[in-house]
Amino acid sequence: MSAAAPKSAKRRTEIRSAVEDCMAAGVSAEAVIARLALHLQAGIGAAEVAEIVLDIVPSDSGDAEKLQEVAGLLRRKPDVFATLRATGAAVRHERDEDETDAAVVMRLASSFDAASAISEVASVQLASLGDKQRLSATTDEIVAWLEAQAFTGIDRDILDIGCGTGRFERALSKSFNRMIGIDISSRMISIASEQCAGLRNVELRQTSGLDLTAFDDGSFDCVLAVDSFPYLVLAGMAERHFDEIARVLKRPGWLALLNYSYRGSLFLDRGDIKRLAEAHQLRVVIDGEKPFRSWDGDAFLLARCDGTLPRDPSSGVEAETLKSVTNSKEDIMASGGKKHFGRGSQGKGTGAGAMTNLAKDKIEENAVLSNRDKKQHSEERGLDGNRIKSDQYQDHAANQLPKD
Ligand SMILES: C[S@@+](CC[C@H](N)C(=O)[O-])C[C@H]1O[C@@H](n2cnc3c(N)ncnc32)[C@H](O)[C@@H]1O
Repeated sequence: MSAAAPKSAKRRTEIRSAVEDCMAAGVSAEAVIARLALHLQAGIGAAEVAEIVLDIVPSDSGDAEKLQEVAGLLRRKPDVFATLRATGAAVRHERDEDETDAAVVMRLASSFDAASAISEVASVQLASLGDKQRLSATTDEIVAWLEAQAFTGIDRDILDIGCGTGRFERALSKSFNRMIGIDISSRMISIASEQCAGLRNVELRQTSGLDLTAFDDGSFDCVLAVDSFPYLVLAGMAERHFDEIARVLKRPGWLALLNYSYRGSLFLDRGDIKRLAEAHQLRVVIDGEKPFRSWDGDAFLLARCDGTLPRDPSSGVEAETLKSVTNSKEDIMASGGKKHFGRGSQGKGTGAGAMTNLAKDKIEENAVLSNRDKKQHSEERGLDGNRIKSDQYQDHAANQLPKD
């Protein structure tokens, strides 16, 4: 037997095991492709992967269908696979030992400049497969969800952190008073500015990504962050941004956070968000649900509801504090807020606990993990640090895609 044979068998085994790993989380065919684009070594082409995919014996009929879909997409769109690989490779989701938080932010800014130069569409959601229609389908679904939560409203001022190419500024433009989209990538801001030209209630700004000092206290009704918080977590900036978000939000005010991190652990994300919410007088109204059909992003909705709600002139209800009212979104709104949430409560609110101030030492102890702490933290919870790192890669792809 020639030496090439075992080499090729090894290569096939590696590709097969990458496919199986990418399938494991039960994500869509597009997500599997996006994950493969991030994981496979350079030099492995779409046709070769498709052939190996079709060789895998599925464990059930769902997997069989998905494997067929993955192979079909790879065969029909080999060039798309190459573009996804290049786009994904432009953004590194790890940090070097000695890299400072600010250096990570600067690196990410150039990375997103580069990624958006390769594919504007794939750079904001890799599993769109760079296809505008797939991206629009997911955008529409997220918009419908935000509207169902009454997050939007024609009197609302919204801050969009990490606005990318401005897809939410465009899609929501009739549903807010003013929206400011900020991003660290100059290229993203320039694409967004072109695409939002003519929208007079939209403002786009390139920011340092370190804080929100450009904005006054209590200047927004809502803050939106779609797939941008994972980069704040990576850069060790999540806690500072919670401080800042709590500062710039009005009372009441809402924070919609779609994907908190790419660590691949909803358990860790929920824990961090709970601690951060408690430390900032925010209440978790929706706690990491997956409400989207076309996208497997984790949705968190937080309410800043301490203090006094404004009197609703139409209801005649006097202003009242929320301290005693806090189990559901409807409760908040019924107690005098101007907006009404559109559907029944799905939140897993933390109730009174979320309104509790932590003692200062507790806040320190419970502060969100910086990337440097992550390995230790995961080991404390019996998880393998490297696995988390790899999951974070996987989720970058998965979290950026529709499951059409
Ligand atoms: C995956 S894209 C998502 C873009 C947009 N939210 C969307 O869903 O279409 C992540 C965006 O976050 C931006 N970003 C990363 N770190 C940031 C920071 N510290 N401050 C502001 N934007 C940041 C990136 O430049 C990139 O445009």
